[in-house]
Amino acid sequence: MRTPLIAGNWKMHGTVAETDERIAALLPRLSTVDHADVAICVPFTALQAAVDSTRGSQLGVFAQNMHHEPQGAFTGEVSAPMLAELEVGGVVLGHSERRTYFGETDRALQLKVPAALEAGLQVILCVGETEEEREKGDTERRLRHQVQEGLEKVPSDRLGDVILAYEPVWAIGTGHVATLEQAQDALAFVRALVADRDKEQSKRSRILYGGSMKPDNAADLLALPDCDGGLIGGASLDVSQFTAIVEAV
Ligand code: G3H
Repeated sequence: MRTPLIAGNWKMHGTVAETDERIAALLPRLSTVDHADVAICVPFTALQAAVDSTRGSQLGVFAQNMHHEPQGAFTGEVSAPMLAELEVGGVVLGHSERRTYFGETDRALQLKVPAALEAGLQVILCVGETEEEREKGDTERRLRHQVQEGLEKVPSDRLGDVILAYEPVWAIGTGHVATLEQAQDALAFVRALVADRDKEQSKRSRILYGGSMKPDNAADLLALPDCDGGLIGGASLDVSQFTAIVEAV
């Protein structure tokens, strides 16, 4: 059985003080949660504070990006061993905002994903089609490319360790959630792509849905056969909404 994961992606939100405050409000509300893993993905500057204030709790802390090299002349970058040193639990890679605004490529992700695993980090690898690609019938082609490239250098016996997040770009921050059928089709397709590499590993793969998941649509999405959790943006900044989504699992 796959343990569901609800991950809140705070994106570029949260000073250290705001992070401490939000975590302090969140922890008591998660204290009885034992049916799902829960994590927050915070900006680099808040990672240490988040790790410190969640130590001993069931709330995991993820970063939102990293460089594939362990060190080097890469001004402004942060490496996987640097995140691991802070006791960060994992990292989100290939989020559509990084792909769109910062030129993140599938080729770069091919190096980042194994580097993160090697450093002992969990990985949430994000994939998803744009509205234009969906309208042109290119959704599967796009997903195939992103999943195959992103996982290409991951050893077969570690494929199931990579958490995938299917996030249709047109659903992110728009309030236009995918229909249940669209979501299930895409989630199942992503799992089938992992199965093409290794069927047994694909049964371990946790595949999340992301894109305008809110308390009122979470239960239906999370009940889909191939949905193993959610990657939540906007609603994760509101403690009550985020908690309601965790409770919807
Ligand atoms: O990483 C999270 C996704 O970008 C979803 O964001 O829940 O605000 O649509 P959203």
